[in-house]
This record gives sequence, C-alpha cells and structure tokens, in this order.
Amino acid sequence: MSFHATVVTLFPEMFPGGLSHSLTGKALIDGKWTLDTVQVRDYAQDKHHTVDDTPYGGGAGMVMKPDVVHGALEAAVSQGTPGRRMIYLTPRGKPLSQAMVRNYAANDNGLILLCGRYEGVDHRVIEHWQMDEVSIGDYVLTGGELPAQILLDAVVRLLPDVLGNKESLEDESFELGILEYPQYTKPQNWKNKIVPGVLLSGDHQKIANWRQEEAERITRERRPDLWQAFLKSRD
Ligand code: ADE
Repeated sequence: MSFHATVVTLFPEMFPGGLSHSLTGKALIDGKWTLDTVQVRDYAQDKHHTVDDTPYGGGAGMVMKPDVVHGALEAAVSQGTPGRRMIYLTPRGKPLSQAMVRNYAANDNGLILLCGRYEGVDHRVIEHWQMDEVSIGDYVLTGGELPAQILLDAVVRLLPDVLGNKESLEDESFELGILEYPQYTKPQNWKNKIVPGVLLSGDHQKIANWRQEEAERITRERRPDLWQAFLKSRD
C-alpha cells in the first residue's frame, strides 16, 4: 500500500501539475504514492451545477456550499483507506512547517486535500470533518490548488525511497532548526569570485565548523524568529 493523496477541487486539471516532474513525478510513476482528484462540481444538487452562493451577513465574493463540498468529501473518503487526515488549504490556516510536513508524511494512509476558491468554504463543513486548516504563507492566492501541490511536494519527498541521498535530508534547512549554509561547486573562480578556502582544505572538522557558523549567522540575520527558537532548543 502506498501513500494516497486525494485532492478535492473545482480544477482537477491543475493536477498533478508540478508534481508530475522531477522526484515527485518519478515517485508517482514508480507507485511510491498515488494521486486522484474529485471534481466538486460533480456533487452540485441543481441543474445549473451551482457550487457557491452569497455569504450570510453580506460582503464581497461567494462561498462554496456546504452540501456540495460535503458530497465531494464523502466521495474522497470512500476512495481511500480509512484514517486519512483531511486538510483544508486556506490563508486562515496554521502556517505549514517542516514539523507538520514530517507528521503528514508519517501517516502512510495518505491525505485528503480540500482546495477552496472564491471567498472559501462554508465553515460548518470544515468543522464537521474536523479538518486541519493549513496555510502556506501570509499572502493570498486565488485558490488552494497551488498550496495543495506545495504541501504534497514537501510530504512526498519525505516518503521512503523517494530521495536518493538520505544525508541531504538530514542537513537541510529546518531539519536542524536553522537555515542551511551556502553551497558552491566548480569552477573555483567564477567572475573573480573565489570559493571560500576552507571548503578546499580537505579538513572535515574545519568544514563542518564553518558550515555551522554560516548557518547560524544566516539564521540570525534573516530569521530572528527561528534563531530564538533554536537558542531555546539548545538550553
Ligand atoms: N488559498 C489561498 N491562499 C492560500 C494560502 N496562502 N495558503 C493556503 N491556501 C490558500
């Protein structure tokens, strides 16, 4: 049994999208994960296939109807193993972190992802299914489809045997609570910019120390929030 993602969306043709390329695409072909979509509009109840309506209380935009979204979610649930977590992508959600990604990847049943459009989904359906509300950052996109792809990309690369080199996981940004050190490759002199000498020294301890110092400096400068959390974790 492999990790099974079901995406509930008004735009199923956006999938697999970016996920069909590179490592996630190869893993999809190799059956290390599977992806299917549910078209929300197929669960509309009227002859016009209406999926949204005006918000109670007034205001701009339209809200996706709870009865229609509920039907689509029931279909998604029935297509997979019981016990899959359900995630609603929304800018109002909890900010996605590498810790959350690790957690989702560890549940090998898979995930159900609900993508909102317009002003979002009637809140009762989110409550009914006890969905996790997840945001990919403090900016507003036109819908949850790209956020769903981002979340799946982050999760799929952590699945067993998807990344070739396990060390590249252990060293990277966030896994250690800080940002990654800068990387260099050949040529040694490029536009008169020289690769830091220590990296050519062959002294593994010195290289490790330099990388740690660089990682800490960059984290301190760019991400005071991460830096404070890192200091706390070391106490
Ligand atoms: N839908 C629209 N914007 C979003 C965001 N920033 N994160 C998750 N879902 C969204």
